[in-house]
Amino acid sequence: MKEFSVKDLKKEYISFFVSKGHKEIKSASLIPENDSSVLFTTAGMQPLVPYLLGEIHPAGKRIVDSQKCIRTVDIDDVGDNSHLTFFEMLGNWSLGDYFKNESIEYSFEFLTKHLMIPTSKLAVTVFEGDEDAPRDEEVAKKWEELGIKKENIFYLPKKHNWWWAGEEGPCGPDTEIFYIFDKEKCSDNCSPACDCGKYMEIWNNVFMEYNKEKGGIKPLKQKNVDTGMGLERIVTVSQNKDSVYDTDVFYNTMKKINELSKVDIKESKRIIADHLRASTMIMNDGVKPSNVDQGYIVRRLLRRSLRHMRKLDIDFDKALEIEGAVILDLKNQLGDFDEKEVLSVLKEEVEKFRKTLAKGLKRINEEIEKGVKTLEGEVVFRLYDTFGFPPELTEEIAKENNLKVDMEGFKTLFKKHQEKSRQGAENKFKGGLKSTGEMETKYHTATHLLNAALKEVLGPHIHQKGSNITEERLRFDFSHPEKVSRENLDKVEALVNQKIEENLPVTFKVMSKEDAINSGAEAMFIDRYGDEVKVYFIGDFSKEICGGPHVNSTGELGHFKIKKEESSSSGVRRIKAVLEEK
Ligand code: ALA
Repeated sequence: MKEFSVKDLKKEYISFFVSKGHKEIKSASLIPENDSSVLFTTAGMQPLVPYLLGEIHPAGKRIVDSQKCIRTVDIDDVGDNSHLTFFEMLGNWSLGDYFKNESIEYSFEFLTKHLMIPTSKLAVTVFEGDEDAPRDEEVAKKWEELGIKKENIFYLPKKHNWWWAGEEGPCGPDTEIFYIFDKEKCSDNCSPACDCGKYMEIWNNVFMEYNKEKGGIKPLKQKNVDTGMGLERIVTVSQNKDSVYDTDVFYNTMKKINELSKVDIKESKRIIADHLRASTMIMNDGVKPSNVDQGYIVRRLLRRSLRHMRKLDIDFDKALEIEGAVILDLKNQLGDFDEKEVLSVLKEEVEKFRKTLAKGLKRINEEIEKGVKTLEGEVVFRLYDTFGFPPELTEEIAKENNLKVDMEGFKTLFKKHQEKSRQGAENKFKGGLKSTGEMETKYHTATHLLNAALKEVLGPHIHQKGSNITEERLRFDFSHPEKVSRENLDKVEALVNQKIEENLPVTFKVMSKEDAINSGAEAMFIDRYGDEVKVYFIGDFSKEICGGPHVNSTGELGHFKIKKEESSSSGVRRIKAVLEEK
C-alpha cells in the first residue's frame, strides 16, 4: 500500500480521472444553490442532478471533482472510526457516456495500481435483483475477472445496493467497494452489511439508469455513472490507520485537544474535532449561527462541542485555541481555505453559550432549592426549548448534583414538538431534491435579465460572481467597485421590467465553447466548461452560457423589484430582488 497525505491523495485521484478523459469541476458550495429544498450538499451528485436527467453539462460527459459535503443524519455515529459530519466526496461521473464495465475498471485500477491496495483487501457488494431491476451478474462477473475472490463478492438487496437522489430523481443499483480490516469476522454471517468494523465502505459506484417518479421507477434517457468515495476514509486506508482521527486530516486538532483535556474520553475528543471542523466549513460558506435552517445546525454543532469540552474539563476560552488547530488542518486539506470571520463568530457563540449555561444552571438551582429529587421532563424540555440547553447537559449537571432526571417525560414532550415542526418542514421540503420549482425557474430567468441590465446601465465590467435562488428571492453578486446609486438601481429595475413587458422568448442553442465565447455569451465559469455548451438567449437582450431551466418567455415573470444593494466582499456588490404579482 502506498501512503498519501490527504492533499496528495486528492490530487492523485483528480489527475487519474483527468488522464481518463474527465474534466475537473470545482466543488459547489455546501449550501445548495438554486435549491432551497435541502439544507446542505450531501453528495457529489447533488449539484449535478439536471445533467443526470439529460441537460448538457458545459464541462462535457466525463466529470471529476472533490465535493464538500455535510451529512447530519449520521450525527449520532460521529465519534466512531469513520463517520464525519463534514467530508469531501471524491466523485467521477459519466453523463450518458461509459457505463458499468469502465467504471469498475477505473475504480479497480485507481485502488490497486495507484494506492497499491492489495486485491485481497477489497470486498464488493452487488445488487441482488428485484422487480425493478435484475440481479447484477454483469457487475459481479466483472469484479471476478479483475481478481476479486468469489467469497468477497456479496449480493445484497435494495436497502444496501440501490442509491436514491431523493424522494424523486435519478437512481439505480450500485456496487460498493469495501476495505477489509485485519480483524476476526463477528460471526459466520459477517458481511459488508454489518457494522462490526471488519469492513469499511470506501467507494460507491451507482449505475443511474432509472428515475424515480410519482408513478414508480422509469428508465432514464441516458445511462449515467455516479461515484462517490469519502476522501477522509480512503486516506485512513492509505495511511494504514484504524481511525480517521489518527490521520493527517486531524493531526493538529487532535494534538491540541489531547494537550488540553484533563479527562480521557475518546468519543468526546472526536466529537469536538468533528463538530468544530464541520461548523467551520458551514460558516465559511456564509452561514451564521442562528435558530433556523443551516444556522441552527451550526449552533447545535458548536454547542455540542462545547458540551463535550466541559466533559473533558477544558475551559471554554480554549475553544479558540482548538479552532486555530482546526483551521490549520483545513488549510492543509483544502489548500486555499480562508477562515474569514470564523474565529470572531465562534467567540460570540461561546459567550452566548456561557450565558445560556448560567441561565440554565440558575433554573436548575431553583429546582434544587425547592428540594426536588428528580428534574421533571417539563423542566428539561423548557430548558431545551427556551434556552437551547441540550438535554444531555441537563442530565450531566443533574448527576453532578445527585438529582435524577425524567428523561422519558422529556422525550414525550420532545416528540410532540418534533411532530409539530415536521409538519412545518414537510411543506418546506416537499419539492424534493431534484425539482426546480416554478418560482425558482422564474428567478433563474430574472437573474439573466438582471445581469444584462446591470451591464447596460453600469458598463461591460459587470460579471456574475455568484448567485443564489430560493422560491422567495434571487441574490446576485457581481463585480463592481462601488455602491450602486439609487438612480442607477431604478434604471436597472425599469430596464428589467421593460424586458418583461416585451414578453421576449427564452430559447437555447448548443454550440461549441469557442463559438459561444466568440459570440460574446456571458460565461461565469469559463474553465469549467467542456467543448459543447448550452447558451440561453432572452430575445437579443441577454446571452449566457447556462444549464437552465428557464421560463419560456419573460412575460411569465411578473414585476421585478430590487430590495437591497450591499457589499458582498471587496470589489463585489450584492443585489437581492423579488418578483411580485403584477
Ligand atoms: N451518490 C452516491 C453516494 O453518495 C455515489 O454514495
